[in-house]
Amino acid sequence: MSKSHKRSLIYTNPFLYRLMMFALYGREYFDRFAKIGFFVCDSSSVVELCCGFGDFYTYGLKNKQVDYSGVDLSPDFVDYGLKKGIKITEGDVNSFNFPRSDYYIMISSLYHFHPNPEIIIKKMLAAAVKSVIIVEPVKNLLNSRHKIISRLALLLTNEGEGKNNFRFTDGSLSQLMEAHFKKNIVKIAETKNGKEKIYILKPEIKT
Ligand SMILES: C[S@@+](CC[C@H](N)C(=O)[O-])C[C@H]1O[C@@H](n2cnc3c(N)ncnc32)[C@H](O)[C@@H]1O
Repeated sequence: MSKSHKRSLIYTNPFLYRLMMFALYGREYFDRFAKIGFFVCDSSSVVELCCGFGDFYTYGLKNKQVDYSGVDLSPDFVDYGLKKGIKITEGDVNSFNFPRSDYYIMISSLYHFHPNPEIIIKKMLAAAVKSVIIVEPVKNLLNSRHKIISRLALLLTNEGEGKNNFRFTDGSLSQLMEAHFKKNIVKIAETKNGKEKIYILKPEIKT
């Protein structure tokens, strides 16, 4: 069976995906991209891993004259992004050839790399010049009291590599960051109501 057959429906249809994110986040789905974009300097280069169809570029970076490129596993998301004129490549970031870039960013996708998410962050840090930005949900929607919310969140579990019900909490994300990246952390922020944590990491100085 091909990856696209195994992928959950939500990752094959940009309209359904946006609808679901809007159900989970409301207006904040769009507003948070502007907040994250605030950490990116004008006229810099940006690589976004697991970029979906490029909504971070559209709502967070478009007016910053950045040299943006995204990569995502979902061919449907990539096609949709390309049609909107956004530079996105189809690919698995586990086998991605990390080019040098001022910023490396990953939004709401680190849980896909459980149980060894530090591997992907280390690769980002090795290729970044200015910062690595990790934005990850920490309020576990899978355990929401509201059945509709937990059911919707469950639909986001299969990106094509099999089911993964793992989600970060504030505690487990902070544990990961402290254990592997303590010396890289320059700032920790959050999106509205603490739904997601934003970690700004500095790459090691390259000589
Ligand atoms: C929850 S969505 C987040 C999309 C986007 N970052 C956003 O915030 O709207 C997770 C994304 O990760 C992508 N993805 C999951 N595993 C991946 C992998 N190994 N390589 C590339 N993309 C992957 C999925 O296709 C999906 O678009």
